Amino acid sequence: MDTKSSSKKVAVIGLGYVGLPLACLCAKKGHSVVGIDINKDIVEKTNKGISHIKDETLEQRLKEVTGKLVASDKFDDIPSRDVIIICVPTPVDEKYKPDLRPLKSACEKICKLIKKGQLIVVESTIYPGVIEEVVKPILERSGLTAGDDYFLAHCPERIDPGNKKWSVDSIPRVVGATNAGGLKAAAEFYRSVIDAPVHELSTVKAAEAVKIMENSFRDVNIAFVNELARSFDKFGIDISEVIKGASTKPFGFMSFYPGCGVGGHCIPVDPYYLIERAKTAGFDHRFLKLAREINHGMPEYTVELLEAKIGDLKGETVGVLGVAYKADVDDMRESPALDIIRILKERGANVIAYDPYIPSKSDVKSLDELLNKARYVILAADHREFKEMDPARLKEHGVEIIVDGKNCLDKEKIKALGIVYKGIGR
Ligand SMILES: NC(=O)c1ccc[n+]([C@@H]2O[C@H](COP(=O)([O-])OP(=O)(O)OC[C@H]3O[C@@H](n4cnc5c(N)ncnc54)[C@H](O)[C@@H]3O)[C@@H](O)[C@H]2O)c1
Repeated sequence: MDTKSSSKKVAVIGLGYVGLPLACLCAKKGHSVVGIDINKDIVEKTNKGISHIKDETLEQRLKEVTGKLVASDKFDDIPSRDVIIICVPTPVDEKYKPDLRPLKSACEKICKLIKKGQLIVVESTIYPGVIEEVVKPILERSGLTAGDDYFLAHCPERIDPGNKKWSVDSIPRVVGATNAGGLKAAAEFYRSVIDAPVHELSTVKAAEAVKIMENSFRDVNIAFVNELARSFDKFGIDISEVIKGASTKPFGFMSFYPGCGVGGHCIPVDPYYLIERAKTAGFDHRFLKLAREINHGMPEYTVELLEAKIGDLKGETVGVLGVAYKADVDDMRESPALDIIRILKERGANVIAYDPYIPSKSDVKSLDELLNKARYVILAADHREFKEMDPARLKEHGVEIIVDGKNCLDKEKIKALGIVYKGIGR
């Protein structure tokens, strides 16, 4: 890679929640960027300056870089690139085993096209060993050797879609590579793109492990508060108050919050990547498996909270507020709301869902229409429209019971209106 010239020719493979913001940022920072995606619709939209992801900042940025970011569903530009960044999905299959097919497919497509001197970075979340055991052998079908002929690095993405404070520009990064030259090239490149520190790790495996550790940390801690919430429900203790109290301790405590489940493409997925790889290495991750089991059980627990109030759900109409996996995004991947809807239906309830960000999954056109049609409501995503709702609207529309799966509503106000309120451990 020409390390002297500051402007690089970059390819970003996979223009999703990770790749599109990164491609835009690279273009904004003066690099010439080709975005490659197998989804033609995404390619077309990107070339028209339309973001396929609902996000104000991204929509604005994509407009700013029109002409500097070119999208394609072809891999023809790979040979001319200095830097190739892979941002394809790394999901789990129906048995919760890592599904590396998109990553392997992307590597197979580029292996015949890569050239000496290029820097190839994987940003997708992977378990420790994927770069050396999976990516490198495919890329070396090119006849080129990682480290000698081209550089191979991993820089796990940490983006948090919808987060107004921390963005792809400002989140510090870690990087690891298969050799010292690759580490230097990757760290230099990321320093030219992001306005935050880039931390260099001595091995690519350590970089792979960082992301899995971060997300397993979240999963385990959320499972811990979810377990406490279920326990405190038996005591009649409000866990929100307990968390507020514990967080007055200035050291040794971090707040995590219980809820109706853990969703998204990362937290409920990444621990399985380590669990499965560790198994083949001869280690059994009991703690991570338990955390997954507890968090996985929260949608059912949420439905049971409603059942505990009304008994049999058969024939009852239940309104579900929010289908997305978290606040103010249109992403439904691994969303606990989908599990809640499935369980409600399995138990014979008529379900009406509403999500202002996902009209295609909404059975009604507005919050008022949902409240009007359902006496019983489960809030499954803490979208601004729901959090800011005046509780009086629940009363006006005749809502009798609300299960607040995100503990984001004003419990006292709702109860004062004579409506039954139940949160998660609250
Ligand atoms: N979404 C997040 O918040 C987040 C945060 C940090 C890390 N990650 C990780 O980043 C990676 C990408 O996640 P995402 O959320 O952007 O996924 P995504 O599904 O939003 O986007 C991936 C894109 O890659 C395209 N694609 C799939 N296979 C391809 C191939 N072989 N060649 C070219 N394009 C291909 C898809 O069409 C899609 O547009 C995953 O490993 C994920 O775990 C995601």
